[in-house]
Amino acid sequence: MTAQTGPFQLPPLPWAENALDPVISANTISFHYGKHHATYVKKLNELVAGTRYAQMPLERVIAETAGHPDSQKIFNNAAQAWNHTFFWSCMRPGAGGKPSGAVAEAIERDLGGYDKFRESFIKAAVDCFGSGWAWLALRNGKLEIIALPNAGTPIASGSTALLTVDVWEHAYYLDYQNRRPDFVTAVVDKLLDWNFAAQQLESSSQPRKAA
Ligand code: FE2
Repeated sequence: MTAQTGPFQLPPLPWAENALDPVISANTISFHYGKHHATYVKKLNELVAGTRYAQMPLERVIAETAGHPDSQKIFNNAAQAWNHTFFWSCMRPGAGGKPSGAVAEAIERDLGGYDKFRESFIKAAVDCFGSGWAWLALRNGKLEIIALPNAGTPIASGSTALLTVDVWEHAYYLDYQNRRPDFVTAVVDKLLDWNFAAQQLESSSQPRKAA
């Protein structure tokens, strides 16, 4: 973990930098986490210094700055800080494949089953024009697959995020160059952690703590 000056910290990775190899190399994680993610946290701390945002939980900073042009820079860096921490937790070595339990039932009910989820999620990630994120999210009690550009995050609109894949070029270019479909397919089939998604689904049904 890199020490940060300011209220927001760069959380440690949930696994070693080389743990996702060969799907994602240690080199990519080193730059993606150690440079890109760390820089979003650093810039966020610089931007909120002396403002009311410095006392807020990260999720509240995102909610309060979303859609406001005068706080776009704070939103971008706050959302990117949150999105990356969430993304790391969405992946686990040796994971991937079909979910079970309540998540599998929700995918069957709302998205037509795992095979349709897989096809639609990969398509959303591949078709996301430019930089952005593909999400599996819960909105008003229903699962949906969405692609959001740039620093977009479903939590800005009150949805619950279950899983995401980062499709900014920095996420895959060192390992896959222009082959975004190969990167996304490999992450879905070999790394997506359905246990983590199940935890998000479970906590979405609990009463929310006051922010
Ligand atoms: Fe990224």
